[in-house]
Amino acid sequence: MPEINSELANSSLKNIATLMESSLITHLPEPEGMEDQVIDAMRYALLSGGKRLRPFLVMTTSFLFSVKSVHALQVAAAVECVHTYSLIHDDLPAMDDDDMRRGKPSVHKKYDEATAILAGDALLTLAFEILSDKKTHPDANVRSELICTFARAIGAMGMVGGQMIDLKAENQSLSQSEITRMQHMKTGALIVFSCEAGAILANVNDERRSALKEYAQNIGLAFQVVDDLLDVEGKSEDIGKTVGKDIEAGKATLVSLMGIEPAREYGQELIEQATNSLQIFDEKADALRSLAAFVINRAH
Ligand code: IPE
Ligand code: IPE
Ligand code: MG
Ligand code: MG
Ligand code: MG
Repeated sequence: MPEINSELANSSLKNIATLMESSLITHLPEPEGMEDQVIDAMRYALLSGGKRLRPFLVMTTSFLFSVKSVHALQVAAAVECVHTYSLIHDDLPAMDDDDMRRGKPSVHKKYDEATAILAGDALLTLAFEILSDKKTHPDANVRSELICTFARAIGAMGMVGGQMIDLKAENQSLSQSEITRMQHMKTGALIVFSCEAGAILANVNDERRSALKEYAQNIGLAFQVVDDLLDVEGKSEDIGKTVGKDIEAGKATLVSLMGIEPAREYGQELIEQATNSLQIFDEKADALRSLAAFVINRAH
């Protein structure tokens, strides 16, 4: 594999994270009235840090097609709203029952379960409000394609379906292909959308879009493999989450199926495949190459 520098992704991720914080604030309503608690909880979850990996993907893949950054930023905000909603719900007692997220109490711990459910619902809804706004793209057909592709990625055939399988698979033995399918749905689908959005915004449907989807599928799966490795080997202060939860809950993961070292090697192979898919792009895709290296090397 060519020498790629995950440090570059690290510093670009930090820049995107700062940009995202100021953009996300503008989408949140002011907390007032009797409903203020749900708005406070949305703000708490959305602005509590996070790597902003998916916004990074939206921004850098949009750059390949010279998409206006204001348009890409809108999509990045919608994606991060949905990602944040998925984390709030994922932590609920009825799901993974996790008390810590991004180094802070989970939303249901900081507030209560009902507020956490509602804050998740409101972030999901806000994402569609953002995408349907003319600021996202002047062409209604483009906005409609974005919305439809996004909805498919995060619904029952994508992220939500994958979360259902994840819960049903607790204490069941799944085959490698069943686990892979689940990970593609629960984690990969949103990452694929994040890498496809730039092409949609630019009205491009050629081999570049297919190459980016292939890249995204591979880093999506590798990202979840590393998340599962960090659950076993990571430090709580680095990952900002409780460690050892997957074994405790009997989760079906590639790490539990293959063991630590084979899973890490598999993750590395996926990263190599992801990088190979970028061959049709010039150095404009270097940020994506370094992100692939970051995904496998990350400690948080
Ligand atoms: C955690 O996602 C959930 C998974 C899909 C594995 P991230 O690791 O991207 O979480 P944040 O946004 O950086 O906190
Ligand atoms: C969550 O996967 C994937 C989502 C769609 C939120 P995990 O349950 O492994 O994520 P963490 O470890 O709690 O962040
Ligand atoms: Mg989970
Ligand atoms: Mg979880
Ligand atoms: Mg995890």
